[in-house]
Amino acid sequence: MCGIVGYIGGKNTKEILLNGLKELEYRGYDSAGIAILSEGSFNSFKAVGKLVNLEEKIKDFTTEKFAVGIGHTRWATHGKPTELNAHPHLGESSYVVHNGIIENYAALKKELVDEGVTFLSQTDTEVIVHLFEKNLKSATDVFAAFRQTITQLEGAYAILLATKSKPDTIFFAKQGSPLLVGINAEDEKYFASSDTPLIGQCESVNYFEDGDFGYVTPSEIVIYGTNGKQKQPHLSKLATNKLSAQKDGYRFFMEKEIYEQSDVITDTLLGRLSEDAVVFEELSDDLFDGVNEIKLCACGTSYHAALSASYLFERYSKVRCCVEIASEFRYREPIMNKDTLFIVISQSGETADTLETLKMAKNAGLKTLAICNVDNSSMVRLADATILTRAGVEKGVASTKAFATQVTIFWMLSLHVAKLRNTLKPQEITKQIELIRQIPASVKVDDAMHERIKRLSKRYLHGHGFFFIGRDIFFPLALEGALKLKEISYLHAEGYPSGEMKHGPIALADPELFTIALLPQNLLYEKSKSNVEELSARDSTICAISPLAFEKADDFIQTKGYDHYMLEFFEMMVVVQLLSLEVSIRLGNDVDMPRNLAKSVTVE
Ligand code: AGP
Repeated sequence: MCGIVGYIGGKNTKEILLNGLKELEYRGYDSAGIAILSEGSFNSFKAVGKLVNLEEKIKDFTTEKFAVGIGHTRWATHGKPTELNAHPHLGESSYVVHNGIIENYAALKKELVDEGVTFLSQTDTEVIVHLFEKNLKSATDVFAAFRQTITQLEGAYAILLATKSKPDTIFFAKQGSPLLVGINAEDEKYFASSDTPLIGQCESVNYFEDGDFGYVTPSEIVIYGTNGKQKQPHLSKLATNKLSAQKDGYRFFMEKEIYEQSDVITDTLLGRLSEDAVVFEELSDDLFDGVNEIKLCACGTSYHAALSASYLFERYSKVRCCVEIASEFRYREPIMNKDTLFIVISQSGETADTLETLKMAKNAGLKTLAICNVDNSSMVRLADATILTRAGVEKGVASTKAFATQVTIFWMLSLHVAKLRNTLKPQEITKQIELIRQIPASVKVDDAMHERIKRLSKRYLHGHGFFFIGRDIFFPLALEGALKLKEISYLHAEGYPSGEMKHGPIALADPELFTIALLPQNLLYEKSKSNVEELSARDSTICAISPLAFEKADDFIQTKGYDHYMLEFFEMMVVVQLLSLEVSIRLGNDVDMPRNLAKSVTVE
């Protein structure tokens, strides 16, 4: 996700835009740029990397007069983080910034190129400004050209556009990505992706709704709704505390990121699902040519995503899969064959152990793929190919939305490979794609469920340990649930295959041993249930997570249940994330920055 800002007024537009972008840098920082229109001419500046690079570049530039300005800090989804791909994007006499993904940009771009338009960037965003200027040639007025442009876009977007054709105006549109406008007593207008940059600048804000589009001038805010009819701005008072604003009212970034999973997975899916196929534009099909084995390598939570992937690749793509813990793989002199595709999984793209294994694979001549959340990171730059998870910046040290998007990518990738290898019938792939489209709904936090978990968590603040147990792909989820609890509550927990408990660990069973049992109804339910009954019979305290009532559990978290185990996986993922969050909060821990941990372990 990216951050966008806009300003209309007579103050120092450059400083206002830069300060606004600083408050949004947590949304993404691959590159940044601003464009300022004053006295009929534009000044635009862009820089790769963090915002300080842009500040340095424009330290001698000032604006004193009335101006219209737009700015952007980028989280790359289409095109590498380069200066050319940085926003704002220029047409001939207009600039645009955009947060989101234009799903039909390829077709629009082709049309424009065929008409002789020259594109400078690889981004989907640049299509918007060229389309607007094409429409401007035939429209009755500038707003009509903008309105026509918005009707031609499909996907998610928050757009700000400035043009010499209306030098005191900013045109906007909002669909699926956040955008708001603030006002103050001096009739200045401030735009931003979230309200943090407006705190201290504006008294009140209008949060645009999906489908809103229109324009803002020094004297008016003109909004049209999805029905095409004009509507009045709905102004509300601004929050006053910046940090809590960045958390958007959640208690911790981790909580916010759990709630964000539905939206970010929508981004992860955007432009990658057709009716009967999963499309990864960033992959060339020959990546899988001659591949007889997939080796997945990662650390921590990303290792759990890799383990989950192995079930999907073997079940759907029928390709042999093995999963490695990077710190182990590095030193065990592994056998590496050239027919192995080496996949590294990393939220940060900088984890030292994982990065070293990628180098080992490259040196051994294997084809490599990175599943990563940070473009331009070391692993992305080194791997032969990359799939970005598009989770946006993850500030909580305990990974949540990054894991969710990693597993989402792997479900899609297993179908992509299945199609290439004809290991699934077309109708099965179509059915699975329909299921994948339900992931955002399956991870939406249910308030009643969250309230139930909050109440329940008071019972799990002590004890001599937790077992999270699950079978098949729910075993990696059990590992992930245990890791979440360990890292933010500091209570001992371990993930275990349900069927393995009787081979030793059950000796620990007593009322002080808490078992969190994952019992999906669509995968080995009876087998898992009998494993849990073995524990219950030995008086272990059981918390069952299942759509089906389980009378032998001491506590029971009833999930909605879906007709496919993968959607149950995602729903139960949210439950174990919330359980660890609520236990940690009750224990008074710093959920976002737990002791002894770092967000990215760039040392061995
Ligand atoms: C997850 O909650 C932890 N913060 C940690 O295990 C993390 O997943 C691991 O360090 C790997 O990080 P990466 O995904 O950035 O490579």
